[in-house]
Amino acid sequence: MKTLIVYASKHGCAKQAAEKLGEAMEKDAAVLDVRNVTRIDLDDYEKVIIGGSIRAGKIQGQIKSFAQKFMNQLLAKKIGLFICHMESDPEKAMQELTANFPQPLVDHATAKGLFGGEFDMDKMNFIERFIIRKVAHVTESVSNINEENIEKFIALMKDSE
Ligand SMILES: Cc1cc2nc3c(=O)[nH]c(=O)nc-3n(C[C@H](O)[C@H](O)[C@H](O)COP(=O)(O)O)c2cc1C
Repeated sequence: MKTLIVYASKHGCAKQAAEKLGEAMEKDAAVLDVRNVTRIDLDDYEKVIIGGSIRAGKIQGQIKSFAQKFMNQLLAKKIGLFICHMESDPEKAMQELTANFPQPLVDHATAKGLFGGEFDMDKMNFIERFIIRKVAHVTESVSNINEENIEKFIALMKDSE
């Protein structure tokens, strides 16, 4: 069963997660940065995983557009949705996920992944660092990747074959 993984990532967290999913799924999984998705034939894929990262409550616009544009086709496939985030309350993090994908796709998804995230001070620009200091009161790089949730997500997507 072929799997397509489409992601958007600013500092690499969602990219790494997408690549990990790609390795964990079967050999012929395609992992694509949404910016490189110009023409795509979804008929080639039985499973599609879509993910990005949350900034100020929002996922990357290109991920939103991709999900909207292909929604009817996506609803006929096995779907996984994931976010990278630093919201520590799982309920609020799930709200971040559900608010950023079309509701029918959220309802249809086999797996919804809260993968945690990272604050990487070295990769942030001045404004990002300022916001993170002010809003999250974080001054040093921190990694909060939720490996357990990634493994559960993989198991669900494999089970759904
Ligand atoms: C400026 C900024 C704003 C952010 N806003 C949120 C937010 O509203 N909610 C959240 O859960 N995480 C937020 N985060 C955390 C990111 O989702 C986290 O850093 C994630 O790992 C980024 O993934 P990426 O490297 O793939 O872009 C924010 C991070 C930055 C730098």
